[in-house]
Amino acid sequence: MKRRKFINQASIAGLSFTGFHLLNSCETETKNNNQIYMGGFKANPISEIKAAFVGVGDRGRSHARNFKSFKGTEIVGICDLYEARVKETISSLNSEKSIKGYWGKDNLWIEMIKETKPDVVFISTNWDNHAPMAIKSMELGSHAFVEVPLANTIEDLWGIINASEKTRKHCMMLENVNYGREELMFLNICRKGLIGDLIHGEASYIHDLRAQMFQKDETSFDGHPGTGSWRTKQYSKNIGNLYPTHGLGPVAQYMSLARKEDNFNKIVSLSSPSKGRYLMAKKYFDKSHEWNNLEFKNGDINTSIIQTTYGKTIMIQWDETSPRPYTRHNLIQGTMGALTGFPTRVFFDSEENQNSIGYFPWIEGKDLSEIYEKYDHPLYKKLNKKTADSGHGGMDGIMMYRVIECLQKGEPLDQNVYEGAFWSAVTPLSAKSIDSGGNPQNFPDFTRGKWKETEPLGIVL
Ligand SMILES: NC(=O)c1ccc[n+]([C@@H]2O[C@H](COP(=O)([O-])OP(=O)(O)OC[C@H]3O[C@@H](n4cnc5c(N)ncnc54)[C@H](O)[C@@H]3O)[C@@H](O)[C@H]2O)c1
Repeated sequence: MKRRKFINQASIAGLSFTGFHLLNSCETETKNNNQIYMGGFKANPISEIKAAFVGVGDRGRSHARNFKSFKGTEIVGICDLYEARVKETISSLNSEKSIKGYWGKDNLWIEMIKETKPDVVFISTNWDNHAPMAIKSMELGSHAFVEVPLANTIEDLWGIINASEKTRKHCMMLENVNYGREELMFLNICRKGLIGDLIHGEASYIHDLRAQMFQKDETSFDGHPGTGSWRTKQYSKNIGNLYPTHGLGPVAQYMSLARKEDNFNKIVSLSSPSKGRYLMAKKYFDKSHEWNNLEFKNGDINTSIIQTTYGKTIMIQWDETSPRPYTRHNLIQGTMGALTGFPTRVFFDSEENQNSIGYFPWIEGKDLSEIYEKYDHPLYKKLNKKTADSGHGGMDGIMMYRVIECLQKGEPLDQNVYEGAFWSAVTPLSAKSIDSGGNPQNFPDFTRGKWKETEPLGIVL
């Protein structure tokens, strides 16, 4: 283990953070004496949770609405670059108490946190802002809840972990897909041991988002540029799997990676040619448009394979460009059966399978009703009616329910800071593997060996 020179992180105007180290991806940082391990961390219970929101574009305004729908919550501040977004969000919340709005400058969110002193800060901005905003929020005394991915460099992920360990503040990446009906049921089936020992998973984010390219000029919903204005640039700035966590988060929790049973070890990665974004730019935008002057260097389809410490494999794919219906794969293979998504299908081994050579059918479609009856996760059964309209088929509301419940009871969160870091680390590590012709890249052990002491996520009632 080597200590490297300090660098300044100043990815946002007016900010300067120290305490980051340049590391090779496989290295593990040494910990200072004032840092504690945050896996299983319990904060003091907060009965009335005060929250501030940074970024109320597509995602942040939905978090604010969901947060406010639960008892024991108060929104104290909302910040965005654009006045209209702040004002619209505040008025849509119909809050009895006044909510302070901040807009117009890059770093007003710092002022907001200092003035409103929230217990928690929800960060739903573009990816490059996540790390500095999460770190500063924790340093100013708030727990940080950060949209996906947690950050997109190994240095930023270490910076977040060090800040969380130093400040003893939670930093949870808000992976909502872990709260989907199918994902919760698969977790339940895996925990019951019904598919035996887990050996392999498949995860993906295959979502044709080409239409976001119009959001630079045609704007999203309130006269200001939408997600595509910053996200499109990522396809020219970075290579590899740029959005790994929706597919990987659930599979990692089925396998209890970074939680006692196993951990992330290494990854190999390759990408297809890059075609779709260039063709899209050429077809729909003027020659002089920014999109026609970017080099979309990232391959359209990225395929990686992760191997865990104990040899399990996970195939993980990413494609936000090619014409194809949405899928996250969501496959988990065990020694006694398999579960998969898009559409939901399950298969359990039997004597019959073992004694005849043939093609065995999935249980799917209408035949799944008995499976749902038996194995739907208790959280889903308890909450699905209340959260159905919360976003993404109800998963957003179930996630927010758990965030609030854990904070109010002072319980560990369902996703700890290390899990967010491992799941997000696929982006920089896949890039490094591609750059080296597909050579394996080791995951840093963000837990510094402590994953062996962290309990697997149970089936919460
Ligand atoms: N979990 C999910 O299902 C899901 C879905 C969509 C987006 N996301 C994630 O949510 C995040 C936001 O995505 P989005 O689609 O809402 O993007 P968006 O562009 O609609 O919203 C981002 C907002 O952040 C604001 N912002 C940027 N810099 C700021 C600053 N310095 N201070 C204050 N506000 C600032 C922008 O003005 C904008 O309104 C991204 O990380 C994205 O990956 C997650």
